[in-house]
Amino acid sequence: MSDEFVLDTPVVRAFVDDVRAAIGRAGSAEEACDLIRPRFAELLADDAWLPEAYREPAPESGMGGGIGQWLLFRAADGSLSLFALVVPPGAATPVHDHLAWGLVGLYRGTQDEEIYVESDGGVRLAEQRALTPGDFYALLPPRDDIHRVRTTSSETSVSIHLLTNDTGCVWRHTYDPASGETSPFRSGYANAACESDEPARDRSETG
Ligand SMILES: [Fe+2]
Repeated sequence: MSDEFVLDTPVVRAFVDDVRAAIGRAGSAEEACDLIRPRFAELLADDAWLPEAYREPAPESGMGGGIGQWLLFRAADGSLSLFALVVPPGAATPVHDHLAWGLVGLYRGTQDEEIYVESDGGVRLAEQRALTPGDFYALLPPRDDIHRVRTTSSETSVSIHLLTNDTGCVWRHTYDPASGETSPFRSGYANAACESDEPARDRSETG
């Protein structure tokens, strides 16, 4: 495996280079996030770098609701990924975790984000915030790792995710806030495969 630039452009390559340099310099995930913030803000402010194809919903979606998770870049060793998450109007992700630190920012449309914390064997809503384009936040597990996003605009929302794992291919979790139930969850990508493993095969065989 080598680095995979699905969207192979100078902008994406320069961004990934800068992110890797920042991670190399940083003494902690929090510090790395702080170092990356200015470059991430630039990416969110740049109208031109993300092709239309990656701003489209995906009917067959691991997230459900037509939510498109479009891989743009992932590292050969699974230590970094960049993807666009496209959420149609009114659609929401399940409550989910990421199991890696990173930055998430809104590029198009508006979203409500609900942040959950683990509590009494389940999860409870801790915070809710409204996001507009250019807004972004750090995910820093275990403290800030569980959330749900919902599009509140009449246009599809597009958020940009930079995370320090191969998020679409990692087995993580969804949470049912009402019942407290946790389920294994692998979202996949709309445009890239995951190396198959046992849970994936089980899941596809059982539909
Ligand atoms: Fe998320």
